[in-house]
Amino acid sequence: MAGFEVIEGQLNSLKEEGRYRPLSIWEGGSDSWMTLQNGRRVLQMSSNNYLGLTKHPALKQAAIEAIEAYGVGAGSVRTITGTLDIHDRLERRLAEFKGTEATLVFQSGFTTNQGVLSSILGPDDVVISDELNHASIIDGIRLTKTNKKIYAHKDMNQLEEVLKASGSFRQRIVVTDGVFSMDGDIAPLPSIVELAERYDALVYVDDAHASGVLGKCGKGSTDHFGLHGRVHIQVGTLSKAIGAVGGYVASSQVLKDYLTHTARSFLFSTSLPPSVAATCLAAIDVLQHEPELTERLWSNANSFRTSLQQAGFDTGESQTPIIPIIVGDPARTMAFSQRLLEEGICAQGIVYPTVALERGRVRLIVTAQHTAEDLAFALEALKRVGSEFGMI
Ligand SMILES: Cc1ncc(COP(=O)(O)O)c(C=O)c1O
Repeated sequence: MAGFEVIEGQLNSLKEEGRYRPLSIWEGGSDSWMTLQNGRRVLQMSSNNYLGLTKHPALKQAAIEAIEAYGVGAGSVRTITGTLDIHDRLERRLAEFKGTEATLVFQSGFTTNQGVLSSILGPDDVVISDELNHASIIDGIRLTKTNKKIYAHKDMNQLEEVLKASGSFRQRIVVTDGVFSMDGDIAPLPSIVELAERYDALVYVDDAHASGVLGKCGKGSTDHFGLHGRVHIQVGTLSKAIGAVGGYVASSQVLKDYLTHTARSFLFSTSLPPSVAATCLAAIDVLQHEPELTERLWSNANSFRTSLQQAGFDTGESQTPIIPIIVGDPARTMAFSQRLLEEGICAQGIVYPTVALERGRVRLIVTAQHTAEDLAFALEALKRVGSEFGMI
């Protein structure tokens, strides 16, 4: 009988390369202090729960009420009996929030990128993508037979060169993350839009780390730069700052109609549980009525980044609550992350091949929930371990 020898061999290679990562198991849900299964309490600096909404009373109440009203699952894909009135309400509310004609909700940010890109790109088109775009963008493009051009990270001269040479394609689509997930820098959206307008291209922005973070009440990077009406396709996630799970595309009614007939991750997968839709509706209320959460997120992030820089750490290109500390090669990076864990800080190590070999980093994510004491505790631990490693 065939066995798993091949797979086991590949797993062993991962172990030999130092790339094997057992899953950490946490007790009690996402929070600023979390308990590992071994009972150790640590300050969480690696979660995307930017605003602390996973445990917000209004969101929990909305989910409980929706479970009572609708049950726990949607029962079907959207195109059969899985479009419940609460899904429709969420899409209308998101469109109003984002200031677009329509939105379409998917099961995650990942499947949104996968579904949208694989539907809109064909062999006569060209997609022009930033080299640091997220894996779900890369995979969405891989599912097509489209032409693909990659430009160096945020390099507008290269983008223009590619656009200039792309006149013969049926459609040109420029794709960028709004906030880059490993570096915490913001895409130069105004320049991208200007170039796209000059060379008749569509602009597609993935706002996974900008949703609930950038722009007025967390409306995203398009709002942040005042580019309403000039960015054709905005993808958002409901899984990070919004505190639940899901993704959406905010765009035109035409695109929505097209995707409801073509996006395979939309067509062939059961729709979000109604309690999740209700949670997300409540989250939009919170974003609009509790702007102090986003304000606290930014004041925490900006002051912590400044303190790290003053201490002598290299925080790369960070402009947002995602703050990398550049450490170096993979082994050194993982050792740094492990020492921080011993000091009571969860700071995820990110190494090659996710980032360049010598640019391994711990990626810190500051949230609105972190108190001044939490951040002081983190800074002291980082300084201690940073000196041990000769980094500062
Ligand atoms: C830039 C970017 N896009 C998309 C996603 C996927 O979003 P989700 O977690 O909702 O699937 C992520 C999350 O890791 C991301 O960082």
